[in-house]
Amino acid sequence: MQFNFDQSVDRRGTYSMKYDDRKYFWRLVPDLRLDEDSIRLLIADMDFQCAPAITRALHRVADFGTFGYTTDEASDEYRGAIISWYQRRFGVELKREWIVHCSGALDGIGQSIRAFSSPGDGIILCRPVYSNFTSTIQRLGRRVVNCQMLQPSPGDYRMDWEKFEQLCAEPENKVYVLCSPENPVGRVWTKEELARMAKICRENHVILASDEIHSDLVRSWVKHIPVIDACADRSNLVMVSGVNKSFNLMGLQCAYTVIPDDKLRARFCADYATEMPSPFSIAAMTAAYNESEDWLDALNAYLDESIRETVDYLKKKLPNATAYVPEGTYILWVDFSGYGYPADTLQYIVNHLANVAIQGGLAHDPEQGEHYLRLCLTSPKAVILEAIDRIARAIEEYEQTTR
Ligand SMILES: Cc1ncc(COP(=O)(O)O)c(C=O)c1O
Repeated sequence: MQFNFDQSVDRRGTYSMKYDDRKYFWRLVPDLRLDEDSIRLLIADMDFQCAPAITRALHRVADFGTFGYTTDEASDEYRGAIISWYQRRFGVELKREWIVHCSGALDGIGQSIRAFSSPGDGIILCRPVYSNFTSTIQRLGRRVVNCQMLQPSPGDYRMDWEKFEQLCAEPENKVYVLCSPENPVGRVWTKEELARMAKICRENHVILASDEIHSDLVRSWVKHIPVIDACADRSNLVMVSGVNKSFNLMGLQCAYTVIPDDKLRARFCADYATEMPSPFSIAAMTAAYNESEDWLDALNAYLDESIRETVDYLKKKLPNATAYVPEGTYILWVDFSGYGYPADTLQYIVNHLANVAIQGGLAHDPEQGEHYLRLCLTSPKAVILEAIDRIARAIEEYEQTTR
């Protein structure tokens, strides 16, 4: 194999949030067990060696030895790489001027909320959804308006169209934040679904801000549709994406927002003060898109396999838990309701007894997430299977001691 995803990189002692910053996680889960032996499946951050072309590009920047103010506007190469990526991967034509640099996907979503709503306004989310949307909305003094997704059959998450239309029609709801592909449930929205969301939003003067940071991580039989390709009228559409998740470059803080409509883009940019990109982030992003497609394809092949095996292994080792192969992302949304444990008992067993660090479902779905765990399958397959073994053993141990 050209790239070895079975080998993880030891990231301890490298200022890694996942491995070195326990305080960050303790703020989220105060008594979380995190020690040398903890298996960490709690954050969307991969433990694989980065694509070699990216490392080479970073060496070239380092060797240059001068790191003054940098601007993404100085050359067409950066935007050219994004434009070419969308042509090749999604068959979509972007225009240079539609692209606005941002320091991360959440930065782009945060600015969409700031620019298109006022404090006190409602921001629509369809939960279960990435918990940091909620914290961003609250930090900006807006209100979360939840349009809970439906599950017509287990694991099959769908929009509640009737409720969505009703919420969009309420004038104080100004922005809908869409997660596409969906973290944590793994849906990859169809063109029809996206067009319908966009139309309902447009007819009700709601801005649709689509977070597509996971768009490059979809199963081999699934196709991601960028929201701006779902319908002809793009006047209310904001698309946020980047290389962060695809190539695991979050530490380099480089993402972008694509806004085809001139007036909407002007409103987005009016008081936007994002961090400037560093020479490292520009080099990495350009090398990712221009020279690392083979690495991404190999990663996706690996994820297809490791996710399928994880789901099979879960069935075998934890028969009362249910999980389905997600259409996109490397995140598994596992339903533990078959075990009947309340959220704190489940967290105790998984985290304290099994020593696996996983985020509980309530963070992403405060109303219905009590029995869920969100597993980030961002480690080599063997590590993930070991985590499942540990959880199975811990449940056995717990059952024996409490029986
Ligand atoms: C859907 C989604 N959006 C945004 C982020 C954060 O991305 P960034 O670090 O680019 O802000 C994540 C990270 O897990 C995510 O899953």
